[in-house]
Amino acid sequence: PVIRREDYLPPAWLVPEIALDFALGLDATTVVSRLSVRRNPAGNGAQTLRLNGDQISPVAVHVDGEAINDWRMDGPDLLIELSGEAHEVRVETALVPSGNSQLMGLYASNGMLCTQCEAEGFRRITFFPDRPDVLSTYSVRMAGAKATFPILLANGNCTAQGEGENGTHWAEWHDPWPKPSYLFALVAGELIANHATFTTMGGRTVDLNVWVRPGDEGRTQHALDSLIASMKWDEETFGREYDLDLFNIVAVSDFNMGAMENKGLNVFNTRYVLADPETATDADYDAIEGVIGHEYFHNWSGNRITCRDWFQLSLKEGFTVLRDQLFSAAMGSEPVKRIEDVRVLRIAQFPEDSGPLAHPIRPDSYQEISNFYTATVYNKGAEVIRMMRTMAGEERFRQGTDLYFERHDGEAATCEDFVKAIEDGAGLDLTQFRLWYSQAGTPQVSASLKVENGTAVLSLRQSVPATPGQPEKQPMPIPLRVALFDRASGTHGGESLIVLDKAEDSFTFDGAGHDPILSINRGFSAPVSIEMARPDADLVFLAAHDDDPFARYEAMQSLVVQHLVAAVGSGLNEAQREAGREAIGEAFGAIVTDPELDDLMRGELLLLPAESYLAEQLLVSDPGAIHAEREGLKAWLGRKLGGELRALHDRVSAVPYSREAAARGARKVKTQALVYIAAGDPAEGARRGYAQYQAASCMTDRQGALMVLASLDCPERELALADFLARYEGNALVIDKWFSLQAGSLHPRVLDHIKALASHPEFRMSNPNRVRSLYMAAAMNPVAFHDPDGEGYRMIGDLIRRLDPINPQTAARFVASLGRWRRVEPQRAALMRAELERIAAQADLSRDVREQVTKSLG
Ligand code: ARG
Ligand code: ZN
Repeated sequence: PVIRREDYLPPAWLVPEIALDFALGLDATTVVSRLSVRRNPAGNGAQTLRLNGDQISPVAVHVDGEAINDWRMDGPDLLIELSGEAHEVRVETALVPSGNSQLMGLYASNGMLCTQCEAEGFRRITFFPDRPDVLSTYSVRMAGAKATFPILLANGNCTAQGEGENGTHWAEWHDPWPKPSYLFALVAGELIANHATFTTMGGRTVDLNVWVRPGDEGRTQHALDSLIASMKWDEETFGREYDLDLFNIVAVSDFNMGAMENKGLNVFNTRYVLADPETATDADYDAIEGVIGHEYFHNWSGNRITCRDWFQLSLKEGFTVLRDQLFSAAMGSEPVKRIEDVRVLRIAQFPEDSGPLAHPIRPDSYQEISNFYTATVYNKGAEVIRMMRTMAGEERFRQGTDLYFERHDGEAATCEDFVKAIEDGAGLDLTQFRLWYSQAGTPQVSASLKVENGTAVLSLRQSVPATPGQPEKQPMPIPLRVALFDRASGTHGGESLIVLDKAEDSFTFDGAGHDPILSINRGFSAPVSIEMARPDADLVFLAAHDDDPFARYEAMQSLVVQHLVAAVGSGLNEAQREAGREAIGEAFGAIVTDPELDDLMRGELLLLPAESYLAEQLLVSDPGAIHAEREGLKAWLGRKLGGELRALHDRVSAVPYSREAAARGARKVKTQALVYIAAGDPAEGARRGYAQYQAASCMTDRQGALMVLASLDCPERELALADFLARYEGNALVIDKWFSLQAGSLHPRVLDHIKALASHPEFRMSNPNRVRSLYMAAAMNPVAFHDPDGEGYRMIGDLIRRLDPINPQTAARFVASLGRWRRVEPQRAALMRAELERIAAQADLSRDVREQVTKSLG
């Protein structure tokens, strides 16, 4: 069944209040739910109350205190005929949390109970109008064995607690803020908190807790610090103040996604909470800060103002991703954060936008909403709002968001409401800009520059590619920050913001000198691809001189992309290949040795474009050829710059551990230098890699060294892998790293390694982190996944079929990798398609996997 945005109807009945009573047990939990229902004046007057359910059945149904028998089921939903205006409906359900392997609804993880209700998990707990435009005030009572569940948590504030009979106890919670059912949460188990307080700008003292399993409490300080920083930053930057006296975060080890913003009770994947230098990398620290911020920021962009329906998901997710990006930028290096965000967009979102699963940031239809928690809705959604900010300027953008928060507080809103508020508050005309919400596909912008008598004319042409269901597109407003550089001085006369809003247009710039170099889409002001053939020399110039750090990175990327795409596309003769490599080597060498450059930024500039991004540049690509050419360049650079790279590796290896930016930068380039050294000289790579591994005083260095060793065929590889497993035994998040480093390696026998890991005693199909650590790493690994015999495709296909009955949401995430078949050379494409067909032929596929496979086959 396809759900369509245009079919939206307001609910017939509202539920202003709900009281839930849980008798908790890992294997058996009963839920009594009492709903006060009231006819919606804006509804259609229907007599039928539809309460959604999913794999539950009612034990008893009462209306206004009387047991009734004339309820009926419509598929999974419970229907009750009601006349009049208001009633009390009581429904009892019985659950088996330990049998809930989907990890949606109420489930058991590691001996505790927790919930995940977004998007449609609440209906797996009790019958309810499980849609985000039904807002209710929640009162929760729970009782359970004190020994199993010493800590009892729900949304809002704890209002009462006490002892019961036979070693039980109970607690009552009340959340004063009306909320949709997807924000409900309950956690019960043996937990220990790292506690702090935060005083809000209005003077409210808030108790903060990060709850973890006993033994993990020593790894919670960074999460707690990040929460405090988030609360402060949101007050200063967006004027948003927290609105309860308590804010709880709980870390659970079985979780489908990253984390969840339940009101006052965020539930997190342990990987976005637990960190200490010995077990978490610098990247892990950054990810924790970002996700803690993200979930906290949802309190306003998501909870106080929620979504009218799930087509509006980007209303909260796109905006909240932008907010977490700005927060992380403010906490660390703004340019480095921008480069990282663009890299993620290009690796994860661009392929989605050009494939069979492409959808606008506000989709028009879906079969399973869980499939729409995508890089498009999240990351492109953030880019779209960022463009509004760029066009308005920071100050006027803030006036727009102020108006949005004020105008829609307490409502279930739409993307249109958001755009209108920015329009009114920031004083922009966004009429045509709304196309960014309705049209899928990454716009392609081709640019050319002509100069006559000191006047430069920039000609731009845009086209938005056809995507499934959208054969024709209209031109969109594309804000581009541009500057023209003077070759001699290495400077420009000022940056301008131009907006390309027609299919074709040109822009003139005076006083540009006789042969300026164009720097375009600076700061990645628009999420588009720029097409422009440019001499290597111009890119080398920009890589060295552009004062916009993103543009500098971009020039370096373009230089490499241009070369590698030519090499695998039309082909290069030896002289051409050598010339291309020399240009790259020149720019690269300057980056390796530039004493002015800080190491965090150097680390970005040294990254070669990802193979998936290179494949994106070609209509149809040969993954084997891309890999060989890219690896060839890496090895060439490693040999060419061997001395400089060894000197760099030596310099940064002497920097002692600290969490300061300079030391983090040193660690970042340490492993990168090692990557190139190993590519150019595997024996030297093994020697230095093992030395780095053994000398490591933190996980960043140790993991980096192990990653390099994992791809080499040398005795140090086995020594280090065995040491790592023994050293971190019992630490699930670190064992995840052990799996993913091997599954992601470029070792020639990587497929054998992955097969062996799948039957390793530490592998668990029931734990999404472990599944992803092995199989997502494999699916992203060009060597393993694109094995010419199709073994990689078969492996992912088998995984999807085995995982689907256990955890459909996580299984469905793997389909997209096979869905790329149209863009891959014919032999591999046939194998990928065959694998999709094998999945499609399986009986009883989940709605999640069925939707993705059907769309991928096209
Ligand atoms: N709202 C959460 C976040 O972005 C994501 C939860 C999605 N969960 C799911 N099972 N689809 O922070
Ligand atoms: Zn979110």
